[in-house]
Amino acid sequence: MVNDSFFAGVPHDLRCEYYNDPVGIGCDSPRLSWKLPEGSQSSQTAWQIRIASTPEALEGNGAGSLFDERKTDGESLFIPWPVNPLKSGQRVYWKVRLWLDGGLQPTPWSRAASVETGLLKDAEWEGHWIGFKDSGVHGNAPAPYLRRGFSIPSEVVLARLYVSALGLAEFHINGSAVHPREVLLPGWTDFHHRVQSMAFDVTSLLKQGSNTLGAILGDGWYAGYLSCGGERNIFGKHTAILAQLEIQCADGNAVRIVSDGDWEGRTGPILSADLYNGETYDARLELPDWSAPLSSRGGWQPVSLCECPKGITIDSKVSEPVSKIQELHPKSISVPSPGVYIFDFGQNMVGWARLRIKGRTGQTVTLRFGEMLNPDGSIYTANLRTAKATDRYTFGGDGIAEWEPHFTYHGFRYVEITGLDEKPESDAVTGIVLHNDMRATGAFHCSNVLINQLESNIRWGLRGNFLEIPSDCPQRDERLGWSGDIQVFSKTAAYLYNVDAFLRKWMRDMRDGQTAEGAFPDIAPTFICGFGNAAWADAGVIVPWVVYRRYGDQRILQENYNAMVAWIDFQERTSENFARPETAYGDWLAIDAVIPEHAPVPSDLVGTAYFARTCGIMADVAGLLKKEDDRKRFLTLQKRVRLAFQRTFVTASGRIVGDCQTGYLLALAFDLLPTDLQEPALARLIALLENRAWHLSTGFVGTPLLCPVLTKYGRHDVAMKLLLQETYPSWLFPVKNGATTIWERWDSYTPDKGFGDVVMNSFNHYAYGAIGDWMVRAVAGLVPGSERPAYGHILFQPQLCEGLDSASAALETPYGKVSIQWQTEGKTMRGRLVVPPNSYADFAPKFEHWEVLEMGNKDAADAQNYTPIRLLPGSYEFIATDEPLEIFRQSKCKGGKFFLTDLTVSATVLNIETGVKR
Ligand code: BGC
Repeated sequence: MVNDSFFAGVPHDLRCEYYNDPVGIGCDSPRLSWKLPEGSQSSQTAWQIRIASTPEALEGNGAGSLFDERKTDGESLFIPWPVNPLKSGQRVYWKVRLWLDGGLQPTPWSRAASVETGLLKDAEWEGHWIGFKDSGVHGNAPAPYLRRGFSIPSEVVLARLYVSALGLAEFHINGSAVHPREVLLPGWTDFHHRVQSMAFDVTSLLKQGSNTLGAILGDGWYAGYLSCGGERNIFGKHTAILAQLEIQCADGNAVRIVSDGDWEGRTGPILSADLYNGETYDARLELPDWSAPLSSRGGWQPVSLCECPKGITIDSKVSEPVSKIQELHPKSISVPSPGVYIFDFGQNMVGWARLRIKGRTGQTVTLRFGEMLNPDGSIYTANLRTAKATDRYTFGGDGIAEWEPHFTYHGFRYVEITGLDEKPESDAVTGIVLHNDMRATGAFHCSNVLINQLESNIRWGLRGNFLEIPSDCPQRDERLGWSGDIQVFSKTAAYLYNVDAFLRKWMRDMRDGQTAEGAFPDIAPTFICGFGNAAWADAGVIVPWVVYRRYGDQRILQENYNAMVAWIDFQERTSENFARPETAYGDWLAIDAVIPEHAPVPSDLVGTAYFARTCGIMADVAGLLKKEDDRKRFLTLQKRVRLAFQRTFVTASGRIVGDCQTGYLLALAFDLLPTDLQEPALARLIALLENRAWHLSTGFVGTPLLCPVLTKYGRHDVAMKLLLQETYPSWLFPVKNGATTIWERWDSYTPDKGFGDVVMNSFNHYAYGAIGDWMVRAVAGLVPGSERPAYGHILFQPQLCEGLDSASAALETPYGKVSIQWQTEGKTMRGRLVVPPNSYADFAPKFEHWEVLEMGNKDAADAQNYTPIRLLPGSYEFIATDEPLEIFRQSKCKGGKFFLTDLTVSATVLNIETGVKR
């Protein structure tokens, strides 16, 4: 690093809380983050932040400066808001410049960024909740259209629309969609406690004179079908919207339009819309220009004023909204029987189908959705249980029509269309991929195509199930926020996408669902099922910890701390001598389980292991939050639980009750055994794997621990064997059988038995995809370091992976891009590393000898026998070997040149944006 250097780049990716230039955020003191100049190989030593109420004041012209200070501080993430808290609807501008590497000269100022708050207090909503007749009460009923005309006296300078809905809503102004990309708003929360609101900049949609604001209202999670039994109105009966339009005019006047008794409503072409069952649309009933000014008044009636259910607060949406993320085009069309056309997208996806099709007035086409095909070529829908997943479109006129639904979503690879006169063109259906609009951050690639397909399946598993909540599956009549599933998958998720805001919001749902006694729920938002079950409820401690470690976001620990402590207290109170009682689920869906929850490993063993694990995490959390007494208490408790585990479940020779893979995995993963019993336990685990010819027998609890434990205890060779195993049961078995997502069961489909138990057989269930985190850490060798969160400290630990010649991982961390790529030849590995600015790394390859060289620098650092070396931000090349030192030295020199100048690494360079190889 060169001191005092002037770097031409500027700080970039300025974020307020989680977003660039957010409008409508829900906190009055947003934290500020940025990245160091692109391509910079520096560390920050000081910052200067300027905040002002106008762009002019930010440039130092005129009044309105709110803050302008320099601070010696190396942190570039989550800087506390340095001035007075913001008021509702307040917009301010900010920029930052930095001092790097102890230099005297700052970088140039960043661009001007902005932040604007939403309505921060419930009392600031002036309007009334409005619905239409008994909207939401009955299933299979038409969706209401609501609207209100109004006049604006002069030119519009600025306009904001604040909205919320009990149900789902789509807003329109003057014939245009307010949020053409975002759908299923305002999303899903525990409506017994809260509903989300959003803000939109609608300045360009309004004009002087007559205007119309409208909304279409759907049932959604609030009132539609939900749960596994075909029930509806779980959270509420009457769907309604809340809207507040604030307009600033050029003449200084302000206009405020709110939802109230002045609105009118009617039904239209959406005859029914339900998340599970699909949407029915009759284009003959369309209301042309219904949200355009001065449109026809025929058929419109007064709206109904609704009471907001007691106890509900309105929270500004924390996570990114569900959006139309990608379009997929069919790969082929088949005709299994006359008039039945099946479009194959080649990818199990979640969203809906856009139809572009020719027909006659009154003709109805029916779309059904499935993940698989039956042997006769028809779509397999038996696994959807009561979810009808059927859309119907009736033509309003002759000719070509284009349509997509509003208030539903489906999980599918295949779309079946019936009701057409002739075979449709291949562009008749487009798959619209929907999920929360999180940033894609991580990618992984290696020399084995099946593993690369596995990585893609894991990624699509996340994409299909991060739709408002982390769901178990996206297709059948379930789609719920099962806590055990995200507990095991959260680390992998945090690698693939930036899930900071998404999981912080979901933890709010967990807290809303926590019992007064402290038990976290099985599902959040909560309405059915139980509480306090081992490995499920533990998500309440594990998920915030993962989010903190991956993003450096301490607030998630602070705001969940009491709830996390309450869960530990609950466990302590309801344990016997520090051993947990039996609870539901256990090692859910393990191979030898006769019914899903009866795995060979007892659930009290699972519970006790997790009790110890969560105490350990809580000791770290308490330490971090400077709660020393709590830290000591959790450490003591952890020791006691560990002893209880040994007393209750471990024999003197190291056998563990149940004598199955998962028991040994829990004991080894969570460090629950005395040192002298680790070796026998590992040996027994290996024997159990070998007895099955190197196949796993684990369920939801054991599977995520398998490869990490084997690698941690020095049996990376066995871990690789399991990863590369292609026969049942294994990760690659579904891949070999055409899977494009992760399956719920190891035998969701087998060529000899066909489809698995239809009672519960999802083909898009991310839980077993939890192996993704280990693939990045142990196969590629990119590990989040222990010294600082958010990859402020990185550990590069590549090792030989039998069966692979190359691997690479790239991740857009909160500090910038980190990557590793390597290839091997015999016992020698060559590779490249990138350490992001304002971060540092330890390079500790698992090799006898190695050397590393900063690119552009001629001095190499070398070491033997696993000694790590610290790397500052920059790009590096390395060579590492288990060959004897002499052979290594000889092979380093080629014609007198230093080996690294000749380095060619063919491991794929990864493009994080899309998660695909370049
Ligand atoms: C879900 C699982 C969930 C389980 C509880 C199932 O119905 O699909 O993923 O964790 O119930 O054990």
